[in-house]
Amino acid sequence: MAKPTIGLIGAGHIGSQVARLATSCGYPVVISNSRGPETLADLVAELGPRARAAIAEDAAKTGDIVVVSIPLKNYRDVPVAPLAGKVVIDTNNYYPQRDGHIPELDNESTTTAELLQAHLPNSKVVKAFNHIYAAELTTHGQPAGSKNRRALVIAGDDAAAKTVVTKLLDDFGFDTVDAGPLKEGWRRSLGVRP
Ligand SMILES: NC(=O)c1ccc[n+]([C@@H]2O[C@H](COP(=O)([O-])OP(=O)(O)OC[C@H]3O[C@@H](n4cnc5c(N)ncnc54)[C@H](OP(=O)(O)O)[C@@H]3O)[C@@H](O)[C@H]2O)c1
Repeated sequence: MAKPTIGLIGAGHIGSQVARLATSCGYPVVISNSRGPETLADLVAELGPRARAAIAEDAAKTGDIVVVSIPLKNYRDVPVAPLAGKVVIDTNNYYPQRDGHIPELDNESTTTAELLQAHLPNSKVVKAFNHIYAAELTTHGQPAGSKNRRALVIAGDDAAAKTVVTKLLDDFGFDTVDAGPLKEGWRRSLGVRP
């Protein structure tokens, strides 16, 4: 059966590594950034025939599963309509020195993933990949059943979406630990709480 297409909004440290993992596991990818597809030519060449670059709107439209991996401060730029009904993976962490202060995060009334979910009310947001360093994505994976296989934490409010992400992570070489609803997504993070 054909593998779902992975759309990537953000192709920096994490996005490019997810793209490498995905293409190496046989998934088609559509990658995008803020500067335009022509700036991703080298990465597309490296990734091979399963990859193409596009604008973010196109990556959102074409992706069956879409990974948002941009600086948190830009989350409102993520296209809303083409992501309706889709599983959206949120890798983002909060760094006030990079993102500026976001009052509702500082006062802990919400979390990064819930901000993205509020921006994408008709999508199924799952937090994942936010507590693994980018480089480790392509070096720490192991086949299912391997002793001491690394597990990655996910969180989300939609059980079916979490099943989709668990299957993806398994294909990518990782077990999954379900932290529960989206509001628990901050508990394992490389950023500042929440
Ligand atoms: N690096 C890590 O190891 C790591 C680990 C876990 C989680 N995270 C989190 O994951 C997120 C991404 O981190 P990163 O290290 O991958 O960042 P990065 O290397 O700075 O890459 C950011 C990417 O997002 C793109 N981008 C920025 N604004 C955009 C917009 N408005 N629309 C579309 N694309 C946009 C950038 O494109 P341009 O270059 O064209 O601007 C770039 O491709 C952050 O929230 C970070 O905290 C990072």
